[in-house]
Amino acid sequence: MSKEKHNIKFPEGFLWGTSTSAYQIEGGIINDWSEWEKSDERKQDLEKKGKKVEEFVSGLACDSWNRYQEDFSLAKDLNNNAIRFGIEWARVEPSKGVWDVKVINHYRDMLECAKKNNFKIALTIWHWTNPLWFRDKGGWTARTSSQDFLEFVNLVIKEFGAYVDYWVVLNEPMIHVFNAYVIAKFPPARKNIWLANKVFNNLVKAYKESSIAIHKHFPEAQVGITQLVNNFEPAHKFNLIEILISRTLHYFWNHRFLKKINKYMDYVGLDYYFHDRIVWYPPFKKNLNKEVNDMNWEIYPRGIYNVLKYLHKFRKPILILENGLADKNDLHRADFIIDHLLFVHQAIEEGIDVCAYFYWSLLDNFEWAEGYKPCFGLYEVDRKTMERKKRASADVYGKICKDNGIIF
Ligand code: BGC
Repeated sequence: MSKEKHNIKFPEGFLWGTSTSAYQIEGGIINDWSEWEKSDERKQDLEKKGKKVEEFVSGLACDSWNRYQEDFSLAKDLNNNAIRFGIEWARVEPSKGVWDVKVINHYRDMLECAKKNNFKIALTIWHWTNPLWFRDKGGWTARTSSQDFLEFVNLVIKEFGAYVDYWVVLNEPMIHVFNAYVIAKFPPARKNIWLANKVFNNLVKAYKESSIAIHKHFPEAQVGITQLVNNFEPAHKFNLIEILISRTLHYFWNHRFLKKINKYMDYVGLDYYFHDRIVWYPPFKKNLNKEVNDMNWEIYPRGIYNVLKYLHKFRKPILILENGLADKNDLHRADFIIDHLLFVHQAIEEGIDVCAYFYWSLLDNFEWAEGYKPCFGLYEVDRKTMERKKRASADVYGKICKDNGIIF
């Protein structure tokens, strides 16, 4: 599709942005992730797999803590009118009830700078990482977790609320539940379904209470989360078992959390990366993988249209807050963006209220358990000099943002 000629426009006022998260780019953060990365358990696991431990330690990340002005101008160069970034709870509240004034001022400067660049701001409050004191209380399994989080959110409301256009209270809660408490790939790396369920419920509670608190101060606030929505499909259209498995996965992975918080969401925040063809025999997934990214994830643009159709059921504006791929050599990125956007446009034409697209990510960054190898950035980052270098696909995205459309 991307090879054909296009002349399509997005609705006026459509938001074009890029997304990042605090832990993945700022550098120098001490939290539950930074300590887990250095734990013997993690090191031994990596060594067993023949990996170099240092590639899996976030360290200075992209040093965006010190280079945020430069990063915002990179986003400006892409003609973005919106930006999504996060703040790090562990920095703001390093000990229970202790607020770091310097850090608060720094984040305020960042928000000011984003406003000066005329960006609409989508601010992520929690993106999987926790302060050490919170971890020590049991993290999200603790009965007090939502209350602790709410105290942080209240601080955010008071100090930063005036700058925020879109509140992303939680990033992909299901990933934390699943990766940290079911498959033990993220800290605290436990395999315990009972705990997973507790964490799920506490995150729901934390979200609802946060949404109420934000609306108390800002009645018109746009509050939501990002939800990783996968496009599950039976591999064989008429196979009843495959249909049943796909629907069950869809319910537990895509729908259940959103259903629980529906009344408290002003918009639906979508992160789209995955298409899963479900078969009835183990391992239950059989993707055709005709075209894949560097992480072997199937590239399947139609999937974004399918999940948008599902999200339309919530009857709220939809913000695509993440969509992107790991593609170090930039072979697929430009086509990837165009092809996904063509499907987004089709959805809009059919009456689905999509009002924003944020590419993940502005920069190559710390890709969690996968370390520094995957490159999602529109800009490369030289991790020795921290120099940012534009990839060719960034110009394609920049033109789309400028034209508010796909005109090639
Ligand atoms: C997360 C990001 C991550 C990206 C690519 C999303 O699930 O929110 O933090 O880097 O996917 O894997």
